[in-house]
Amino acid sequence: MCGIVGYVGDRQAQDILVNGLEKLEYRGYDSAGLAVFDEGKIDYQKKKGRIQQLKEVLDEKPLAGSVGIGHTRWATHGEPSDVNAHPHVSSDEKIAVVHNGIIENYMELKDKLIKEGYEFQSDTDTEVVAHLLDSYYDGDIFEAAKKTAKDLKGSYSLGIMSSDDPDKLIAIRKNSPLIIGMGENENFIASDVPAILEHTRNIYYLDNDEIAVLTKDSVDFYDEDGNSIEKKETVITWDPEDAEKGGYPYFMLKEINEQPKAIEDTLIGRITEDGIKLDDVIITKEDLDKIDHVHIVACGTAYNAGLLGKAFIEKYARIPIEIETASEYRYKDPIITENTLLIVLSQSGETADTLAAIDIAKKAGARVLAITNVVGSSVAREADDILYTNAGPEIAVASTKAYVTQVACMLLIALHLAKLKGLLSEEDQKRIAESLLNSPKQIEEALEASEEIEEFAYENKDLHDVYLIGRGLDYDSCIEGSLKIKEISYVHSESFSAGELKHGPIALVEDGTVLLVVATQDKTFDKLLSNILEVRSRGAKVLAIAQEKHRDALEKAGVEKVFCITDLEDDIAPIPAVVYLQLFAYYLAVARGCDVDKPKNLAKSVTVE
Ligand code: M6R
Repeated sequence: MCGIVGYVGDRQAQDILVNGLEKLEYRGYDSAGLAVFDEGKIDYQKKKGRIQQLKEVLDEKPLAGSVGIGHTRWATHGEPSDVNAHPHVSSDEKIAVVHNGIIENYMELKDKLIKEGYEFQSDTDTEVVAHLLDSYYDGDIFEAAKKTAKDLKGSYSLGIMSSDDPDKLIAIRKNSPLIIGMGENENFIASDVPAILEHTRNIYYLDNDEIAVLTKDSVDFYDEDGNSIEKKETVITWDPEDAEKGGYPYFMLKEINEQPKAIEDTLIGRITEDGIKLDDVIITKEDLDKIDHVHIVACGTAYNAGLLGKAFIEKYARIPIEIETASEYRYKDPIITENTLLIVLSQSGETADTLAAIDIAKKAGARVLAITNVVGSSVAREADDILYTNAGPEIAVASTKAYVTQVACMLLIALHLAKLKGLLSEEDQKRIAESLLNSPKQIEEALEASEEIEEFAYENKDLHDVYLIGRGLDYDSCIEGSLKIKEISYVHSESFSAGELKHGPIALVEDGTVLLVVATQDKTFDKLLSNILEVRSRGAKVLAIAQEKHRDALEKAGVEKVFCITDLEDDIAPIPAVVYLQLFAYYLAVARGCDVDKPKNLAKSVTVE
């Protein structure tokens, strides 16, 4: 995720900015840059790679001056490169900007600016902000910033400076965090507390559509129309290590809590008034007509998201799918032809088995569509079509926000393919898209249940096994939930399709066995209820995740904990449902004293076989 730091004061800005960016390194980034005002002009340096590489450039040519902005970039639009790194500047280099987030309407704005004569250097969405500011600038950078913000759609936090107003920084926020730090004769902006914690603990959190104007002696806050507003100061009491995790004890919990925003970022610009729009998926109707079979291949959690992808594509686009883990696929001699579409999913984009699967498929002439979280990753470079999950960097080994965003991407692809095949009515498209847009709210509901889930996990922390059952899409959610439990709490866990219980697994159920049931699918609810009664009568303790309308039936069946999701399409339910399971796995691991973020024997990115 990108990081922003800004400084205005009496000290030299360069070291404060570099040091602040280093404090944000944990967020993940692929390039870094600074702009500092000195002797009537803005100087800047930006470099692909680690901050160390930027420092080497700065050692040779330091940026002097006491007002500046800095940025670490996590690529979303345009691959990691020097030119795509921030800051971005206006053509006359009088205005510089750093940006976190995604400008949803950047193509439209870019076209307009090009017609007005602006020339673009980079592939980023951010550069439109620099030129827009310039186009509105008539001597007052605050006015230009206000007008610019009104043109932008999407999510953004911005740090802006102008060489005509050298003592000032402007900060703007919409749907992307930005804070203001107050010091003595110096003030700061940052995307996150750790960047400035060693200089001040007195923080203002900007809210959406708010603007802050900072000089070394003052900070003034305004609403989007430029009316002055009052804000309440927060004094940070966390220590620096906690601050990196945003006050959460583990990255995993932070990332679980980031899921509403992650889904919003995945959907930005992809659900429009004209329906689903996937810019980087360039499969045409003619291409699709030639494709006679589709393979989905991935590893671990990404594979589990692929299971839902299979269900979605088969349901909406009526294309048969074969799904395989990459480690099996590569040695199985799969049938691949020029008419095969291979869909791969990979958070990191660097998983060795997944890359090997791509290699085999490409050699056989297949087309490759990738869903990945990392722009410029090996998977992204190898694929013909890409859909980025835009989840922001995931640090905890256990994948959470990558999974829900992969599921959302799979649904978007299914709808896209169905549309190409003429199988999706406008009405269905609208209904599902609306429900998908609503899913962050249902994730919030799940997050609100954290304490209750924690209680249940602590009560049962000494269990030896935990089983998960569901049917259809719910079974797919169980598979992912079970993986989460295994990998971070080291408790033996298995998922079963509920209909299979009687064919064997029910023999495992005895007094006190803990069973997690995912029962969100309307059409199979009655069947699942019977399964619940069967395990209850053998003494199982049951936690269920279901729709609100089924609460009574579950409580009557003696289910110990019922968590309900409201207002949703069945197909969207796996997104909030898995959050309850992630939280259970997390609290079980904490209760058992496990190192949640770094489970034993596991690595975040499996780049070897
Ligand atoms: O980076 P990838 O998505 O390709 O990684 C795939 C798996 O290694 C990964 O999902 C793994 O299963 C996670 N630890 C699950 O939480």
